Amino acid sequence: MSESNSLIKLGIVGCGEHSHEHFKAAIEVQGVKIIACCDIQDVRARSCAEQYGCDRYYTVLEEMLEEEKLDGVILCTWPIQHLQQIELCLKKGIKNILCEKSLTLSSKEATAIGKLVQQNDAFLMEGCKYLHHPAIHKLERILSYGDIGKIDSIRATFSNYEPEEAADNKEDWRYCKDCGGGVAYDWMSYLVNACNHFSGSSPKRVFASGTQSKQYEVFTRIFGMIEYENGVVAFIESSKEANFSEELQITCTNGILRLPIAWGIFGETKITQTHRKPDWDYILTDSYEIEESNAFALQLKNFTAVIQGLEQPRLPLHQSIQNVRLIEAMVTSCLEGRIIEF
Ligand SMILES: NC(=O)c1ccc[n+]([C@@H]2O[C@H](COP(=O)([O-])OP(=O)(O)OC[C@H]3O[C@@H](n4cnc5c(N)ncnc54)[C@H](O)[C@@H]3O)[C@@H](O)[C@H]2O)c1
Repeated sequence: MSESNSLIKLGIVGCGEHSHEHFKAAIEVQGVKIIACCDIQDVRARSCAEQYGCDRYYTVLEEMLEEEKLDGVILCTWPIQHLQQIELCLKKGIKNILCEKSLTLSSKEATAIGKLVQQNDAFLMEGCKYLHHPAIHKLERILSYGDIGKIDSIRATFSNYEPEEAADNKEDWRYCKDCGGGVAYDWMSYLVNACNHFSGSSPKRVFASGTQSKQYEVFTRIFGMIEYENGVVAFIESSKEANFSEELQITCTNGILRLPIAWGIFGETKITQTHRKPDWDYILTDSYEIEESNAFALQLKNFTAVIQGLEQPRLPLHQSIQNVRLIEAMVTSCLEGRIIEF
């Protein structure tokens, strides 16, 4: 941490659409300040610096890293850039990195990131904000009480009707295969993370089927099934040709838990738990009200608490590496039409 005082000074790389959530989170979290920002587009870096009160802005990452005394960096750039930018940050002595999802685009690169972070005795957490929301903590608590029984299956969906013909900005990285666009490394990063997280096990085999855009070659639909070592089975649905859905459903021996919007929760929400006993002809539904929370602020709080040695990362790096392996396996399964064994 900075010697002058206990304020944690951060720099952010990438001042695009999503960066605003990090800037706003930093305003909400005490003891943290984004003092510098960087974007290759001068206008974006300047406008974020002005809007959020950064002391300085840059268009070259290396310059920001050399000129600023930073306690950590937030990478809010495209997945294809993460490995190279992580490498540079570590080389310039940055010890703490919050890297947006997806960590990267291949298991080879993810493993390389794991090694680099370890060799540099650094800390890196993938930004997967949903995991920090109280609704997810509540699901964990309900499952840990034991009354609901053992998990049988998990179903995670992230879909929306977004036909590419209607897209107003084809420059968007989400249409760029090489940047990590398409549902695979974007929306599906939440889904595979949730399935890995709640299954409490390692994937054994995977099968997936999907559709690729003819024009952009990115995946616009992926439907997959994961079988875990402990017998839990997960179903993943992500489509740009379906109506909106961001649901997480966990089916257990004594009940079914549903969180209707799991990945981008805004406002208050509710978990429902339904169950029916063998001799009943009706279904009981319990509800758990969840207060409004800013998951980005909670994520930043966790990141800074880890820097201060007060908490463990909510998403350890080895799990992020596993997420990438799983997405890669699903993509391979779609392309080759076969089951992928781990
Ligand atoms: N957790 C979430 O809820 C969430 C939501 C949306 C996006 N994301 C993630 O955030 C990341 C960024 O997505 P976005 O939608 O903001 O993209 P974006 O295209 O809007 O922004 C990326 C920015 O990075 C800049 N950039 C590119 N190369 C750079 C470089 N070498 N140095 C500095 N800046 C550079 C671009 O000019 C652009 O302004 C992605 O990894 C995405 O998956 C996360």
